[in-house]
Order: sequence, then C-alpha cells, then structure tokens
Amino acid sequence: MSSCNNLDGAFTVQSDKCKYTEDAIVSDYTYETTIVEGNVVKPVSTKMQFKTERKVPKVGVMLIGLGGNNGCTCVAGVIANKLGLKWNTKEGEKESNYWGSVMMASTVKLGNDAKGNSVYTPLKNMLPMVHPNNVVWGGWDINGMHLGGAMKRSNVLDYDLQQKLYPYMQDIKPLPSVYFPDFIAANQSERADNVLTGSKQQQMEQIRKDIQEFKKKNGLDKVMLLWTANTERFASIEEGVNDTAEDLLTSIQRDEPEISASTIFAVASILEGCTFINGSPQNTFVPGVVELARQKKVFIAGDDFKSGQTKMKSVLVDFLVSAGIKPVSIVSYNHLGNNDGKNLSAPSQFRSKEISKSNVVDDMVASNRILFEEDEHPDHVVVIKYVPYVGDSKRAMDEYTSEIFMGGTNTIVMHNTCEDSLLATPLIYDLVILGELCERIRMKKVDDSSDKDSEWEAFHPVLSLLSYMLKAPLVPNGAPVVNALFAQRQAIINVMRACLGLAPDHHMTLEHRFE
Ligand code: NAI
Repeated sequence: MSSCNNLDGAFTVQSDKCKYTEDAIVSDYTYETTIVEGNVVKPVSTKMQFKTERKVPKVGVMLIGLGGNNGCTCVAGVIANKLGLKWNTKEGEKESNYWGSVMMASTVKLGNDAKGNSVYTPLKNMLPMVHPNNVVWGGWDINGMHLGGAMKRSNVLDYDLQQKLYPYMQDIKPLPSVYFPDFIAANQSERADNVLTGSKQQQMEQIRKDIQEFKKKNGLDKVMLLWTANTERFASIEEGVNDTAEDLLTSIQRDEPEISASTIFAVASILEGCTFINGSPQNTFVPGVVELARQKKVFIAGDDFKSGQTKMKSVLVDFLVSAGIKPVSIVSYNHLGNNDGKNLSAPSQFRSKEISKSNVVDDMVASNRILFEEDEHPDHVVVIKYVPYVGDSKRAMDEYTSEIFMGGTNTIVMHNTCEDSLLATPLIYDLVILGELCERIRMKKVDDSSDKDSEWEAFHPVLSLLSYMLKAPLVPNGAPVVNALFAQRQAIINVMRACLGLAPDHHMTLEHRFE
C-alpha cells in the first residue's frame, strides 16, 4: 500500500501562527539561520510576519515574441486547456494538460496524516494563485502572422490539435514591435514585417500605450511582460549610456544605438509598473534597468528559460558534487532546427547563449573545497548547431566525466530529446504564476524589544525566487546565485510555507526514525 496521500482540494491552516482575514493570510514566522564567523557558528532567529493578499487579480500577460514557437504554443496551450481539447495521434487520443509546469502539475508534501503517511498537495493550492486559463494573453512580434499561421509554422503541436485550435488562434494578431536589426541575427530580417518606426523614445512610448490599452480593453487589474523573442547579442555596458537609470532614460531620448529592443521593453514595462521577465539570455537588465526597477519598485526577473539541457545540468552536477564526486569535464552539444536555432547560428547571439549556459555549475563547484581548489573549475564547453531537419525537437548530448574513488573515472553520457517549446512553454506559465503571487506577498521583521512596528516590505525588485525557471538567475547585487534545481524549488516551497506560518520542509521525518 502506498504511504502517500494526496489532498486535492483547498485546505486551511489551524494555528495561532496563521490568521485568515477577509483580505489576507497573515502568518507569524521565525526565520532560523546560521552565521559563521571564522570557526564560530551561531544560530540566529529572526521573528517575521508574512502577509499574502488573498484576492487573485485579473491578470494580463503581454509576450514579446508572441508569434514565435514559445509565444504561440503558450497561447495555444491555454486555449486547449480551457476548452478541454482532446486530439488524435498515431499513438491514440491525447488530452490537454499543464504537465511540465511546476506550479500547475507538481505536488508538495504538506505534512503527515494520523498514521504517519505523507500527505501531498498540488503546489497551486498552497496559496491563492492565478490560473493560466484566466490570464488574458497578448503581445508583440516583429512578424505580423496571426497565431493560427504561427502555430502551423512552428510545427510544435500535433496536426489534429492544430486543426482544432486554428479557428481560435487565427483571430489573434501580434502588435507591431520594436526591431533593431543589429541586435538579432541578420537571418531574421525576412520575418520583420510588423515593426514600429520612429525614434527609440517614440517606440518606447508606443509600447507604454499598448500596455495601457491592453489593460483597459480587457478590464485587467495588472499586466506583466515577458520576453520570449529572439536572443539578442549582449549590449555593451557604457558609462553615460546605460549604467544608471538616468543615463539610460536620456540615452533612449537621444536614440543611442547601444540600447536594445529588449531593454526598451523592460524600461516601458517598469515605467508602467509591470513586472518584466526575460526568457532569453541577453543582458536586457543593464545596470540602468536594475536601478530603474529599484527606484520604481517594480519586479524584474531573468535570464533565459531553464528548460532541457541546463535543467539536467543543474541537477546532475549538484548530485555529483554533493555525492563527493568530482566532475572534471562537461561537454554539451546541441543541435536544433527551429527559428531559435537559426538565430543562434550567428556568432554574437550564440555567444549570449554560451554565457548563460556556462555559469550554471559555478555555485555547486565552489561549495566543495575538498574536491575543488579555489578558482578551480571543470572544463565546460557548450556547442550549438543549427540543423533545420530536427525542427523544434532539439537534441542535447552531454558528456560528464568525473574523478571518483582512488583515481577512478566515471563518465556519464546523456542524450536528451527536448521538444523545445513544449519544455519551455510551461515555464512561461510558472514565471507568471509565481511572479504574480510574489507581487501580493509582504514581509516585516518583528522586534519584541521595541514597540515600534517595522514597515511591510515587498520582495527585492530583482525577483530571484523565480530562479528555478531560469538558466542564469539574476540576483540582487551581492546576493549569492543559486543554480541547484532542488535548492531553488525548496526556496519556493518554504517561502510559501512561511506565508502559512508552517515550518520549512526539512525531510527529517524523525517520527519514523525512533521507536
Ligand atoms: P522563435 O524564434 O520561434 O520565436 C521568437 C519570436 O520573436 C519570433 O516570432 C520573432 O519574430 C520574434 N521577435 C524577434 N525580435 C523581436 C522583437 N524585437 N520584438 C518582438 N518580437 C520579436 O524562438 P522560440 O523557440 O520561441 O524561443 C524564444 C526565446 O526563448 C529565444 O530567445 C530562446 O533562446 C529562448 N529560450 C527558449 C528555450 C526553449 O524553447 N526551450 C529555452 C531557453 C530559452
């Protein structure tokens, strides 16, 4: 008999540490940390309160790159789920689902029942969260094809499902977008038939207007923006150009060439008070954007969806290093044949991807001085090739060579067929669901020795809690980057538990370890 139960429906926490008011869930929480000073280790307890707004707002999401493989698959996936579509393939009938979305399709351990069995609950039931079916989706693309055509072109979904979706998709048309050819591969120019004209300032203002109109037309409480357009080359960070918020805004006014389209979108989004998420590897978040986000107290999160090969890497290297095994060589080959691959076949766009794929093992390697000396790293090489025939069915081949006990060598070779957009699209839902939830959470420190109450604080504008879904997590200045996938997942779950006044899931299960 299984020792796991599932609690599918809603639950309430019965505790003096968790109060449900009409508007919010308010919890008392003791945050236990450990400070290490030289060779002295001190436990530290900080009393906190969390407040989570209960009302789930009406959310709209504007995708930049709406007509791309991820963009149109994202909209198609929601329509299919909303309508409960089923379709035929040569393997039989399939039905719509949200598999691959950690927020929609994974469960977390809530506690134990009276017999000591683990009880799991869908992650989406932990706190009030937006459902992708209830989100209004829209956005921009430099290619004007309606989403029915874009879905056919992308060749991601089964033919029969495409037929069923087409009538709903054909009426959705991307808004004209900001196109600076210098930032994406030259081979994309033939797609650019739906572009804004005018100065950078005028284009930025048009994007702001588009956001305002989208919000008004759909009666939305809030709008979020997410870049799932082509990978751009890195922008160079220049003093007086993009290094401060003020310089960045004046650079846009004077049409500075080094300001990328993605940065224009990020600035427009921040000025409209809308969370901006970057699903591609380029440095959209130049220092001026980060400063602007801090000034305006608007969330930004990035960079680059962590979908296939890198997700495996952030699990496997964590496993190796934490098992006391020393990875010495990691070689990753990819070939893919979709438009993303075509764009990445240009050297400077490949370079953006190479950078975001390369740093993913750093924190795990640095965590073990038994295996690695300071500044020692495994050899780590990433190759990406464009092979049109494989389309969206990206192949990722990795070889991990490690040194093991007594001079031995262990080599793991992995072949990963990543249906690219079917792996990436659920991450878009996750980024939106979790990003939106974070907008409704506040925390304050409680100091028993003082009668003055501290202020409720929102998360830092650089929203690092979204790192689970992102290859090269952007973190607040000075904060450590965590790439290890399960540590990232535990952070999400334990923050949610804190919002309910529940202790972190520590996996100790002491109730089963003593008689
Ligand atoms: P895609 O090439 O099919 O779609 C990108 C879309 O962006 C195209 O329709 C293009 O016309 C449009 N576009 C280009 N510049 C634009 C601009 N300035 N404004 C508005 N639209 C613009 O690519 P796909 O497969 O959908 O991937 C999108 C992005 O996500 C890429 O940067 C890719 O590197 C990134 N990504 C994808 C992953 C995956 O699919 N598994 C994983 C990690 C990142």
